[in-house]
Amino acid sequence: MKFLIKKLQKKEIWNRVFLERLTEPIHLNLLSLFYAVFGSYKKKIDYDLILRPHHAYSLLKVAKYAKDNKIETVSLLEFGVASGAGLMNMSQITSELTKSTGVQFKIYGFDTGKGMPPPESYKDHPEYYLEGDFPMNFEALQKNLPKNVELIIGDVRQTLQSFQANIPPNEPIGFISFDLDYYSSTVAAFEILKYKSELYLPLTYLYFDDIELPNHNHACGELLAIKEFNESNELRKIEHHRFLENTRIFRRANWIKHIYFFHVLDHPKRNNLNSKIQKRVLANPYLKFEGNEDLQDVN
Ligand SMILES: C[S@@+](CC[C@H](N)C(=O)[O-])C[C@H]1O[C@@H](n2cnc3c(N)ncnc32)[C@H](O)[C@@H]1O
Repeated sequence: MKFLIKKLQKKEIWNRVFLERLTEPIHLNLLSLFYAVFGSYKKKIDYDLILRPHHAYSLLKVAKYAKDNKIETVSLLEFGVASGAGLMNMSQITSELTKSTGVQFKIYGFDTGKGMPPPESYKDHPEYYLEGDFPMNFEALQKNLPKNVELIIGDVRQTLQSFQANIPPNEPIGFISFDLDYYSSTVAAFEILKYKSELYLPLTYLYFDDIELPNHNHACGELLAIKEFNESNELRKIEHHRFLENTRIFRRANWIKHIYFFHVLDHPKRNNLNSKIQKRVLANPYLKFEGNEDLQDVN
């Protein structure tokens, strides 16, 4: 409750309420009040009623894919933990999703533990972020994390070198949050996207935090790291989830623009050229011929 009152004192929260929410149709806002009280957890995610809806949306998608494909455990990663609010939020959401889907989650949080390292150039946006920003209270955080959440402390340039061995093939990566602020740190963290293809879901969800301020652009920061990664990796692509807003009830929400897909083009599931799926036929409502009404429309 104290946390909620503190949040409500922040100007950005009221901006968000007025700009993102109250500019949406009134009937949807009224419905969302109803679901806030009586809705299932999934309905609350659909109506952006869960704190950090970018986590809730992505993790629900990942849980559904895992359940449908009989994957028992999925790995989730956060790059840039700071005080740990994001990590604890992910942990809270996954415990709800485990209850409803049975899917288990392992969560890994990467951070220096002592805040931002020194910036290397203008590409790291030193006008926004500086050395020592966002330190962690390691003891307090570690004490409050459940068993399935692990902190990997140190600069990602070093800690990622041997991390691949921590991900067993039956616990593929389904979601990664990138919140390291700097270009240089994000490039280092992208080593995580170069593992064996089976260590990911064929379509892995990504969240990029640092792309929305006025100075963010494709020549600096996370946007530059994404651009360079795509240029130099033929079979791995980071792409914006272009039609996501068309699938959402509240389309003006900021978080929508932070969601990307990681396309693992060399994943075995994307390379099965001899799949034995039943032949499908497209129906044609303009023609009359025997059997047409029974044909399946895959559109
Ligand atoms: C904005 S904070 C993360 C906030 C957090 N995701 C949240 O939602 O509360 C950015 C974090 O990235 C970490 N960081 C930046 N560069 C790093 C690097 N090269 N290695 C490890 N951690 C790094 C910093 O220590 C800092 O805590």
